[in-house]
Amino acid sequence: MDIVLFGATGMIGSRIAAEAAARGHNVTAVSRSGAQPDGQSARVAPAVGDAGDPARVAELVKNADVVAAALVGPRDGTDPRGPLVRLYTDFLSGVRDGGAPRTVIVGGAGTLLVAPGTRLVDLPDFPDTYKPEALAHGAVLDMLRADPALPTWTYISPAPEIGPGTRTGEFRLGVGDDLLPDAGHISAEDYAIAFVDELESGAHPRQRLSVAQSVAQPVAQKA
Ligand SMILES: NC(=O)c1ccc[n+]([C@@H]2O[C@H](COP(=O)([O-])OP(=O)(O)OC[C@H]3O[C@@H](n4cnc5c(N)ncnc54)[C@H](OP(=O)(O)O)[C@@H]3O)[C@@H](O)[C@H]2O)c1
Repeated sequence: MDIVLFGATGMIGSRIAAEAAARGHNVTAVSRSGAQPDGQSARVAPAVGDAGDPARVAELVKNADVVAAALVGPRDGTDPRGPLVRLYTDFLSGVRDGGAPRTVIVGGAGTLLVAPGTRLVDLPDFPDTYKPEALAHGAVLDMLRADPALPTWTYISPAPEIGPGTRTGEFRLGVGDDLLPDAGHISAEDYAIAFVDELESGAHPRQRLSVAQSVAQPVAQKA
């Protein structure tokens, strides 16, 4: 497949690019810098583009089988909610103009539900540092769900903690807003597997998914 990935040089985006290339897909790796993501194969072609520029997005995605986004809002201490919603609004407008059939988006974990009506971000021990970004991702998801005319999307929340790690191939996939039990951590490499699975399958249009580490199975007790 031809995949156009925005945010391809980032911590998560670069792992999605690597996973997709390893499966034989061609990846256009877009960022504002246009840098080559670290350690990539010849199947990953860097490109300069701002996801907030609909005309450039349309140009980049016009031949894409599927589009992916691992974008961030401002991390300068200002409220990222408005800017991230605007970024995704402009981005999806470009995706629509370019005629790309589907977009898969890296979301946030903070608005996953730990109990009916209670989001992870509402818990007293949720770190203050991550709250603005978590709420910004929630605002993007609200925006996606509110407008059925938007191009087809899938929004994939990582576990509460995600970082560089090991590709184990073992993880759990949740469908919907509930936080998976003992979600804890996911390596960015395993998250990328779930993400590329969705890029390939398109199995969850207009749905939110979440990805979490596997939970060790209890060893069967002998009688
Ligand atoms: N547990 C969680 O919920 C959790 C944890 C971590 C991350 N996340 C989310 O995952 C996403 C990716 O995070 P990350 O840590 O991988 O981010 P990152 O390392 O900062 O990478 C961001 C990427 O986006 C690109 N980018 C930013 N603005 C852009 C624009 N306007 N147009 C095109 N490219 C742009 C950056 O390159 P340029 O600057 O060169 O454009 C870079 O490639 C974020 O939305 C983050 O909030 C969620």
